[in-house]
Amino acid sequence: MDRELTLEIVRVTEVAALAAAQWMGRGCKKEADEAATNAMRAMFDTVAMNGTVVIGEGEMDEAPMLYIGEKLGCAATPEVDVAVDPLEGTNILAKGLPNALSVVAIADRGNLLHAPDMYMQKIAVGPRAAGKIHLDDPIEKTLEIVAKANNKRISDCVVMVLERPRHQEIIDGVRRAGARVRLIGDGDVGAAIYTAIPDTGIDLFVGIGGAPEGVIAAAALKCLGGEMQARLWPEDEEDVARCAAMGITDPKKILYMDDMVKGDDAIFAATGVTDGELLRGVRFVGGEMAETHSLVMRAKTSTIRYIKAVHRLTRKPHLVFNTECLRQV
Ligand code: FBP
Repeated sequence: MDRELTLEIVRVTEVAALAAAQWMGRGCKKEADEAATNAMRAMFDTVAMNGTVVIGEGEMDEAPMLYIGEKLGCAATPEVDVAVDPLEGTNILAKGLPNALSVVAIADRGNLLHAPDMYMQKIAVGPRAAGKIHLDDPIEKTLEIVAKANNKRISDCVVMVLERPRHQEIIDGVRRAGARVRLIGDGDVGAAIYTAIPDTGIDLFVGIGGAPEGVIAAAALKCLGGEMQARLWPEDEEDVARCAAMGITDPKKILYMDDMVKGDDAIFAATGVTDGELLRGVRFVGGEMAETHSLVMRAKTSTIRYIKAVHRLTRKPHLVFNTECLRQV
């Protein structure tokens, strides 16, 4: 993949974040997701690549845009797999809470796992603990490994977990071991990434969340030198059949980094929609102007760029800012 693609991809998350942010705090998660998806789709069509969506908004018959298998881009090459989440944290955005993001990952064709939209068990750590953890280790053992790798006492370690009843055992285990838990309502792509960014103070992310989010987070961690291990979590026979339809014959198998993101290259971009640990959210600063804060990274070179952009909304053809429609909701 050409390095120029990194800057093209961040334009895609910027425009999706701007579109979603118009819906911040309005209690309308469907509309917010649609706005982000439309804007992202339109911007993708200007990018010089031949992309295929492998992680998207759903199957062809359930998503009008950015569905799995959809073609993106306006050139014959490079041929790439595309994983998108135009609005990661739809509830967060609707409630005006922190940490909603717009995210995209791309890799050479065939290199991203085609994961069905189902649950996935995940563990993620930053570069210092990478290569030392195992998904099936008891949480107490994992905490010992992560504390040692991060040169901390276990009591200083912080584990991010989605607040769900299914995670009570993990939460109890972390507390029993003497470490601390940070519960989040939604948004586990960010949670996995925070483990690889020292400033955030997050040492470990564990739990069951969406499989599409898992693959996107794995691409980000590949760029950051962190590690994620995962296992698909089919809930019934239908889920098992969906795995088989995507060529996954053993859904119980542990997925390592190279199973989720093959090869040594991937590009990941995120733009903050609401303020978060990683990025500031979109700011509408008046006079049709808005600011975005983004992160774009490339695995091959490990370059991490933080980009602040100032946009004049009236000059964004991919952004429909329909105030009439907002008033009617
Ligand atoms: P959406 O943005 O699609 O709503 O996903 C938010 C999220 O919290 C993900 O980050 C996470 O992987 C998943 O939902 C968890 O699913 P559930 O809410 O069913 O536990």
